[in-house]
Amino acid sequence: MENLAVVGVGYVGLVTGACFADLGNRVVALDINAERIEGLRRGVLPIYEPGLEELVGRNVAAGRLSFTTSYEEALREAGFVFVAVGTPGGMEGEADLKYIRESAESIARTMQSPLIIVNKSTVPVGTGDWVADIIRANQRTPIPFSVVSNPEFLREGSAIADFMNPARNVLGSTDTRAAEKVAQLHLPLRAPILITDLRTAEMIKYASNAFLATKISFINEIANICEALGADIKEVATGMGYDPRITRHFLEAGLGYGGSCFPKDVKALAYMAAEQGRHPQLLQAVMDINEDRRIQMIEKVRMLVGDLPGKVVGLLGLTFKPNTDDLREAPALDVAQRLLAAGAQVRAYDPVGMPRARELLPALQTAESPYALAQGADVLVVCTEWNEFKQLDLVRIRELLRRPGVVDGRNIYDPKVMARLGFQYLGFGQGYGADGEPLAMAGSEKQART
Ligand code: UDX
Repeated sequence: MENLAVVGVGYVGLVTGACFADLGNRVVALDINAERIEGLRRGVLPIYEPGLEELVGRNVAAGRLSFTTSYEEALREAGFVFVAVGTPGGMEGEADLKYIRESAESIARTMQSPLIIVNKSTVPVGTGDWVADIIRANQRTPIPFSVVSNPEFLREGSAIADFMNPARNVLGSTDTRAAEKVAQLHLPLRAPILITDLRTAEMIKYASNAFLATKISFINEIANICEALGADIKEVATGMGYDPRITRHFLEAGLGYGGSCFPKDVKALAYMAAEQGRHPQLLQAVMDINEDRRIQMIEKVRMLVGDLPGKVVGLLGLTFKPNTDDLREAPALDVAQRLLAAGAQVRAYDPVGMPRARELLPALQTAESPYALAQGADVLVVCTEWNEFKQLDLVRIRELLRRPGVVDGRNIYDPKVMARLGFQYLGFGQGYGADGEPLAMAGSEKQART
């Protein structure tokens, strides 16, 4: 059992704190936002993450997890402090390190005994060294400390399972003994532990996220080519995925990636490269392809309904992916904005994302159910693959729609089934026309006729 402090109770901090408490440690989680801390003390979580409420409740009840706004209280007994504060992206792609600096200053001023400072936030390569400088400069008396970089690889929606069953834990530090102590905390997770220097650990996080984003943009590029040549991207991805060097993961074509990590991290990595005079060509293409998905979505909607002014478009799904309430960089919001700007009337239904989406985009109307959404709409557009959308009564949906159009940004429906049900259906990279005719066959017939 160790005493830990966690700074920041967002997704990463709260999941990390609750999971370490569940592994038997005593954890004090701190946030400078008093409202959040008040809420957590009453059992109200600032975020939605499956299983987290129960995990927090259980560990608070067992006396292993508590919440505070005071650094004195958080650090009183702690041998480790995990920093998981936000690092919002600036316009150019540079990360804003304001919260990292503030937390480092507060830690330096408050610490009374030796401390290992573990950074979990995604920070530009070199930040760990900078944090060490800030601590040194702000300490009242010199007390030994070490900085360890321990990037998180949690996915929203499965963050607890990802923490408890990690593919690996990466620990970077100039002080190997400190990294080994943090490794001890991770031993119960029985995953490979890689100890590197600070900058390498920071880079592993960016490189991993950029690679996954590249996989998504790669499959989206192939989807474009499939669409033109009449091949089916889903089967192509499956066929590729059997190769253990490739795997089927992150080969879902469609509307592209969003969320709080991929867009920000790819941009930040490209920015770091450019700042050093390197030309990040591939990263640039990854970002361009991703943006292009949203433009293509609008084109597909136009293919089905014609001119947009006056047309009613229903968006199925708003969050950047299912099983989260997170709307950060959600492709759906971008699509909604583009449609609104083109003069369409945009309505949406999402199981959890609607209240926040209305705040972010007041012109967006919302509907109480997918059926209310379909009522009188000219086209439905799937933006997020929530499970409940896969089980809709599609005959009822078709009858409610003004025209039977569906554009499927996540390829959740089968083009042949949709055609049989009388829909005009367009997926991404599926090689079928809106009438369900395989494009390749139509093409070869055309060729044969001419
Ligand atoms: C990601 C990383 O997976 C995680 O390791 C890191 O710590 C944070 O960033 P997250 O943003 O929660 O996690 O979501 P993820 O499930 O990875 O999906 C990211 C985005 O990519 C979503 O918008 C999703 O719809 C999209 N995506 C994912 C695709 O478009 N196709 C795919 O094949 C996979």
